[in-house]
Amino acid sequence: MQPRPALGGRHSLTSPHPSTAAPVLVLSEQPPVNSSHRLQLDPIATPERLLLGPGPSNAHPKVLEALSRPPIGHLDPLYIQLMGEVQELLRYAWQTDNRLTIPMSGTGSAAMEATLANTIEPGDKVLVAVMGYFGLRLVDMAGRYRADVVTIERPWGEAFSLDELEQALITHKPAILAMVHAETSTGVCQPMAGIGELCRQHDCLLLLDTVTSLGAVPLLLDEWQVDLAYSCRQKGLSCPPGLGPFTMGPRAEAKLAARSGKVPNWYLDVSLLNQYWGSDRVYHHTAPVNMNFGMREALRLLAEEGLDQAWARHRRNAEQLWAGLEGLGLTLHVPEELRLPTLTTVRIPEGVDGKAFSRHLLDTHGIEVGGGLGALAGKVWRIGLMGYNSTPENVERLLRLLETELPAFTPGAPAMATIA
Ligand SMILES: Cc1ncc(COP(=O)(O)O)c(C=O)c1O
Repeated sequence: MQPRPALGGRHSLTSPHPSTAAPVLVLSEQPPVNSSHRLQLDPIATPERLLLGPGPSNAHPKVLEALSRPPIGHLDPLYIQLMGEVQELLRYAWQTDNRLTIPMSGTGSAAMEATLANTIEPGDKVLVAVMGYFGLRLVDMAGRYRADVVTIERPWGEAFSLDELEQALITHKPAILAMVHAETSTGVCQPMAGIGELCRQHDCLLLLDTVTSLGAVPLLLDEWQVDLAYSCRQKGLSCPPGLGPFTMGPRAEAKLAARSGKVPNWYLDVSLLNQYWGSDRVYHHTAPVNMNFGMREALRLLAEEGLDQAWARHRRNAEQLWAGLEGLGLTLHVPEELRLPTLTTVRIPEGVDGKAFSRHLLDTHGIEVGGGLGALAGKVWRIGLMGYNSTPENVERLLRLLETELPAFTPGAPAMATIA
């Protein structure tokens, strides 16, 4: 704690700044500034990292350029044009015509919360199909909005069958079925065929987490009859985190319009946000304009590549990774037909200290891979190939390191000094 300068009287008091010793003018009657938290830092210098974990992934250099453009006003006609472009390109990325398609100012969890906050009324039955960590987050959030939450569960590494879902819809008669398309904690991609039809038959909204699939894994929201979805931008969209894409179809809009009370979350209330993102352009909150510059650039790059090409690229590179890992004698946690191209869970071999190896990759090679979450903690590594990072070169680099450096982490291997 720096010593506080003595309290000054009226007029022309100067006090030495404790860290610079330069005289500082203190205005009359103003208490002296407490400089105990005044760190003297160098300008930020971040290390080069290859982010091959569960996210964030590396951002595309053009996105970083766009983010650093000088800001413009959030009601500037040029910005308003950009808002429309972002909305339209999000519709493309999600394959939806939903009018209410916007980037929420916040991360994926903000958009996740928006889907629930806007549609749940206290006592509504919400069925959550849990097959990993992010299903549990949906349960937690839905409960906070006073839903009557019921769950069905699959072991971490499996997905739901249509029959299981239908039985649960018959038993529980929920107003909303919430589920995760791409479970980042397990590496499972939930097959979606038929689920939307079932939800319509049982008069229930379908809410889908697409955080680890948008821009990278086939997603056909309208075809699948999804009523509400959310995502992030730090994975398949090659942006730094900071915006949460959100979309709501006509059936979900009707539920919002029929609410008996206000949405119990001012910031995420889509009826208010729509006055800004819709044609009225009424101020709601100061939009993070630079975040949306980056978003526009990321979505523009996705449209330039083409969705089907982006999906195929992610699939190709994931298949190369899977074959390489199996070639090294490693075991993949998820059966091939359910595997997510963006996130691969690979079992940590018996006796290997998984954390020590991922720490070695980070410290020695600047490569991040993730560890297991929840039920898979300590059991798997999570390898992400997302957006800008989904390249054959990255796959080869990681496989080479696993081949040459993992053996030193297996029991009975010579000390690390041999490979460091
Ligand atoms: C499937 C899934 N849902 C939701 C989230 C939450 O997104 P965010 O961390 O951007 O808030 C994540 C984050 O990784 C995720 O993987």
